[in-house]
Amino acid sequence: MNVTLITGASGGIGEALASRLAARKHNLLLVARNAGKLEQQCRQFAQAYGISAQYIAADLSKAGAPQQVFEEAQARGLEVDMLINNAGIGSGGAFSELLLKDELALLQLNNASLVAMTHLFLLPMQARGSGTIINVASMAAFIPFPYMATYAASKAFVRSFTQAITEECKPYGIHVMLLCPGLTRTNFNRAAGIENNEKSKGLNIEYSSTTQTPEQVADEAIRALDRKKHVIVSGRMNRLAANLSALLPNAIVARGFARSYRKRTGK
Ligand SMILES: NC(=O)c1ccc[n+]([C@@H]2O[C@H](COP(=O)([O-])OP(=O)(O)OC[C@H]3O[C@@H](n4cnc5c(N)ncnc54)[C@H](OP(=O)(O)O)[C@@H]3O)[C@@H](O)[C@H]2O)c1
Repeated sequence: MNVTLITGASGGIGEALASRLAARKHNLLLVARNAGKLEQQCRQFAQAYGISAQYIAADLSKAGAPQQVFEEAQARGLEVDMLINNAGIGSGGAFSELLLKDELALLQLNNASLVAMTHLFLLPMQARGSGTIINVASMAAFIPFPYMATYAASKAFVRSFTQAITEECKPYGIHVMLLCPGLTRTNFNRAAGIENNEKSKGLNIEYSSTTQTPEQVADEAIRALDRKKHVIVSGRMNRLAANLSALLPNAIVARGFARSYRKRTGK
């Protein structure tokens, strides 16, 4: 059976993508840590849309997890014809004050697991001569971001890696797309400890009227996929910001962010 595999599908952008794709009759294989939530979603999607929805509970910040997910998908006889590497976490604050083990776990999830999942599922796609891969980066992929240094660098990696394999995959009929959301109303910023509250380590991320919902991001991503785009920055204001940031030297943008952070925090 053909399935669309979505990592980080138990909430936020991953959940919105799963719901939209289920409505389009994609069979789903959902991956995240929260087995209870995934089970509930699978039941709902199967009932509402008459599709097959399965899940694998896995912690993708563990090095062996992608291989386990791949083997489990094979054991179930599933052919992953669309892979969406969406699971990701953030972190913020002065780099030297963050826990090294948390920063390394972030890289394992945002980068190493994404590369492993892509490699594992790409080989059967190549053999079949078709497939789709969507990797989720961020607006933070476009600039070095002081006080979110590791997270922004992890997303710059996703951007560079994805744009490179986009070209490598073309001769095999495999479509690769990079999705760069901007600030989105999900649990992401609270989990990263950077939402605007007393614990936000000075980053004070705040939502505004232009902040997108995960459903808006998912709709834009799917429209872009229908149009066979390779890169999509979701949200008009975000596209404008991405274009502007490309005109300025990275060092100047980074200096501006660092100064404004130090002014806010008195550091
Ligand atoms: N929200 C934003 O402002 C924003 C902006 C730009 C880019 N993004 C990117 O968008 C993607 C999705 O973020 P989101 O906003 O939807 O975040 P979210 O609401 O926090 O959802 C994150 C998803 O990733 C899963 N996840 C977290 N750690 C995991 C782990 N160790 N192993 C497996 N799954 C894990 C979570 O499920 P479990 O907890 O069940 O594991 C959840 O399903 C991320 O790559 C993020 O970097 C978000």
